[in-house]
Amino acid sequence: MAAPRRRPREPVEEQAPAPPAASAHSHDADLAELLAGLRARPKHVPSRFLYDAAGSVLFDRICELPEYYPTRTETAILRENLGAIVASIGERALLVEPGSGSSTKTRLLLEALPAPAAYVPVDISREHLSCAAAQLAVEHPGLEILPVYADFTRTFPLPLPRRRAPARIVFFFPGSTIGNFERDAAVRLLGQLREAAGRRGGLLVGVDLVKAPEVIERAYDDAAGVTAAFNLNLLAHLNRRFGADFDLAAFRHRAAWDPRHERIEMQLVSVRAQAVRFAGTTLRFEAGEPLRTEYCHKYRIADFGVLARSAGWSSVDVWTDAARLFSVHYLVGD
Ligand code: AVJ
Repeated sequence: MAAPRRRPREPVEEQAPAPPAASAHSHDADLAELLAGLRARPKHVPSRFLYDAAGSVLFDRICELPEYYPTRTETAILRENLGAIVASIGERALLVEPGSGSSTKTRLLLEALPAPAAYVPVDISREHLSCAAAQLAVEHPGLEILPVYADFTRTFPLPLPRRRAPARIVFFFPGSTIGNFERDAAVRLLGQLREAAGRRGGLLVGVDLVKAPEVIERAYDDAAGVTAAFNLNLLAHLNRRFGADFDLAAFRHRAAWDPRHERIEMQLVSVRAQAVRFAGTTLRFEAGEPLRTEYCHKYRIADFGVLARSAGWSSVDVWTDAARLFSVHYLVGD
């Protein structure tokens, strides 16, 4: 991510948000990355393939599940500490949200932030991004919304607000999305955000905490089977986008807590020996062989602080709930 280009133009009247600026992967790059993971042992695919239009809708349903504590806990933390949070962010912030989805939690900030310069939702699901931005524009006619269609792990130019010059760039990275990255990749990503935020930049980041494994495993394997459907939808996405022939009935969802790495490993387990056609090649699965689709790392507050510091961030504040399920950190560059 690069800093916005200099000097906004004269303020202009603008109704609808601009169409998403594109910076996602090419089909060939996606294919090469998928093939490398599907030929590896153990097999794995990048978790961004969970988020096509259907996957984004299923993820929104996960957030409402009784077992999925992160969303409501983080929302309560944001709500209870909103005054302190928006005071830390300050006036005229350019608020950038990597992996914005439906921008639900963002609404809390946007209600309370003093004169934000603009809001930049960044998402890998183009349709979902456009719908979410259009909906938000209706609710906030005075807010400049500049959606970016991109994989937020890659660098992309930040759009420049036209109406109000930003005082600082603040990344909003809720939901413990940072937990989807292995520790070295998490440091790299936090470092990229630090770089992109520039001088006086900030980062408001939600981080799920280590707790009883049963609580965590239930959050990733709910009774209604929504998380299973979300996970299996990845195969439907690959079938559609890459002409594969994964049989969704021949895989089952598994979410296992790995105590050594303090993370959930989400997998699709092949229920039998099978061959799958994918992009002109044949992939073989043994009975019981897992395909890893996502990691969800959980942190201790102090350990996350160390990680963030190693990426160049300094901690300003950290908020948590009474049961210490989840944490929200505000970090600054310099
Ligand atoms: C939105 C990526 C943070 O890791 O908890 C939810 C995704 N996966 N259930 C998470 C997810 C399975 C979620 N993130």
